[in-house]
Amino acid sequence: MTLSDTQSPLLRISALTKRFGGFTALHNVSVDIRPGERFGLIGPNGSGKTTLINCISGAFRTEPGTILFRDEDITLLQPHVRTRRGIARSFQIPRPFRSMTVAENLMVALDFAAHEHVSVAQRRDSMMSILTQMGLGSKANVSAMQLSQVELRKMELARAMATHPKLLISDEAMAGLSSSEVDEVLDLLLSLASRDITIIMIEHIMQAVMRFSERVMCLDAGRIIAIGTPSEVMADRRVQEAYLGT
Ligand SMILES: Nc1ncnc2c1ncn2[C@@H]1O[C@H](COP(=O)(O)OP(=O)(O)OP(=O)(O)O)[C@@H](O)[C@H]1O
Ligand SMILES: [Mg+2]
Repeated sequence: MTLSDTQSPLLRISALTKRFGGFTALHNVSVDIRPGERFGLIGPNGSGKTTLINCISGAFRTEPGTILFRDEDITLLQPHVRTRRGIARSFQIPRPFRSMTVAENLMVALDFAAHEHVSVAQRRDSMMSILTQMGLGSKANVSAMQLSQVELRKMELARAMATHPKLLISDEAMAGLSSSEVDEVLDLLLSLASRDITIIMIEHIMQAVMRFSERVMCLDAGRIIAIGTPSEVMADRRVQEAYLGT
């Protein structure tokens, strides 16, 4: 038995179902995410990936289903409370405050997450250190409107990092980027993972999923059809049929 078998999971999703009216977007999904894990979430368009993230972050209520985070039941907690407990997500479509600078965008996220005893000066230091870490140090005073696509993606991740997450969920941070830009974002995520942040990465770019993930889960029509190592999941016949179109 390895250490990870004996550790309690960071996140435990049990029997989660999500309906929109008569349509069931997630059917009875159960999965444990281990502390420090790099977890890839794949599946065809509309398979329920973002819906699952919305359930974890609290944007959607689940009915039924339970979510434990660090051994506490968070199923009924509001999104901002989950953020303070250590869950952060980036959005599939970045939502920057376009009229603000990159620094100001980060400050909004920091103010949201920080406790009262953290001074403005400490928040500014924290903001600059996150921007530097994310490769945006030189862009602090640039308007978000002027950022390139890859810079916007990085800022989206930086805003999530501003809340000091234990679990970071990245929703297609690489879509539409060139292959060298994909590598840049991937390297960023890997460097965050090496700092003890557990990451769930949703991605359609298979090379990135293979390189990043310790485990991969594939959803199809709201159900888990495969979970395992990247090579196990890619070799799964149902995954190939549902997702890879082979
Ligand atoms: N707020 C909502 N109201 C109604 N239906 C929704 C809502 N959000 C998602 N859905 C539906 O749930 C299903 C799953 O959508 P979801 O966005 O989770 O897919 P996804 O796997 O993230 O797809 P993609 O790869 O295209 O981002 C889709 O059929 C979608 O139309
Ligand atoms: Mg999605």
